[in-house]
Amino acid sequence: MKVTIVNTLILKNPSQNDINQAADLLKEGKLVVFPTETVYGLGASALDETAAARIYAAKGRPSDNPLIIHLADAEDAGKYAEISPCYEKLASLFMPGPLTVVLPKKACIPFSVTGGLDTVAVRVPSHPIAHKLLLAAGIPIAAPSANRSGRPSCTTVDHVIEDMSGKVDAILDGGESDLGLESTILLPRGDNEVVLLRPGAITIEMLTENGFTVSLDKAVTEKPKDNEKPLAPGMKYRHYAPKASLILLDGTFTAVSDFMKLSPSDPSVAFLCYDEQKNDMMQKKAIFLGSYSDSRSQAHNLFDALRKLDQDASITTVYAPLPSKEHIGLALYNRLLKAAGYTVKSL
Ligand code: TXA
Ligand code: MG
Repeated sequence: MKVTIVNTLILKNPSQNDINQAADLLKEGKLVVFPTETVYGLGASALDETAAARIYAAKGRPSDNPLIIHLADAEDAGKYAEISPCYEKLASLFMPGPLTVVLPKKACIPFSVTGGLDTVAVRVPSHPIAHKLLLAAGIPIAAPSANRSGRPSCTTVDHVIEDMSGKVDAILDGGESDLGLESTILLPRGDNEVVLLRPGAITIEMLTENGFTVSLDKAVTEKPKDNEKPLAPGMKYRHYAPKASLILLDGTFTAVSDFMKLSPSDPSVAFLCYDEQKNDMMQKKAIFLGSYSDSRSQAHNLFDALRKLDQDASITTVYAPLPSKEHIGLALYNRLLKAAGYTVKSL
């Protein structure tokens, strides 16, 4: 489907009236980008096949990669999916919030939204603008991350304008995304058992503390083989990749900072590094993600950093530390591994 929108309405600090206007557009089958606590979402009615097709066209997304449906309230899930005690427990603990749960779908959700799967991914965002928009629309909103397919997800309105201007009907500007990485995706396997399909801010540690047994889908930490289908179809695509080759450095903080410090200054080489390295990186192209001990800041800044690297065409190689797999570190680890096409250098 060709995308033919010419004027994109940009609504900064949207009032309730602006949000109502955006909700009306969604009800008419149009495309609206909205902020969430994870990343910006590219929304359309999840009950309308043509609207869903518009999302795929605007993103340039393969049609076998299913969309997450967004709801105002966790209790609404039963209208669109078969809920279970496991869903109810997850919802009471973590919704609204950065969690997506895959459930058997009901017939009202078209297969064009679920990439042909008989399951549907459900999420209840906590961002106040997203919540008000979903309430005003009164329908489930299918929304992938608002980036062009293959690019880092959008965490600022500038990123959204870069990727989606002229391709969507409206953009609600909610400032910088708080978390900066997409939601955790879980597939329930039993009452207290889940498979982690994509790591995010709801961490394995948070789930186990609350009595869940968590298994990790292989695609989170390993490169899927050509004939392998990860449980979250989107995990097989090489997302977030900067134009330069990205190489992850596997070693202690000291080994990584020494490697970066001792690398000759070269305009074709850039570094993603920690704030603690600032004094060592003066003569080099470096982007600082946050303090070594502050994984949340690193998560918040990662996608903006990957986009900034693409703005300097002279950079051909980028080095970044391989994050730890603990807490939200696992989400960073997963996104960086994918961005690097799984290229890791041991120090
Ligand atoms: O934080 C987020 O989840 C953001 C915001 C906008 O809500 N959305 C987001 O959507 O990241 P997207 O489309 O970029 O990523 C959705 C992931 C893809 O990897 C997709 O394959 C997987 O969720 N997914 C969607 N429906 C699924 C299903 N029924 N079964 C398994 N995986 C599914
Ligand atoms: Mg995405």
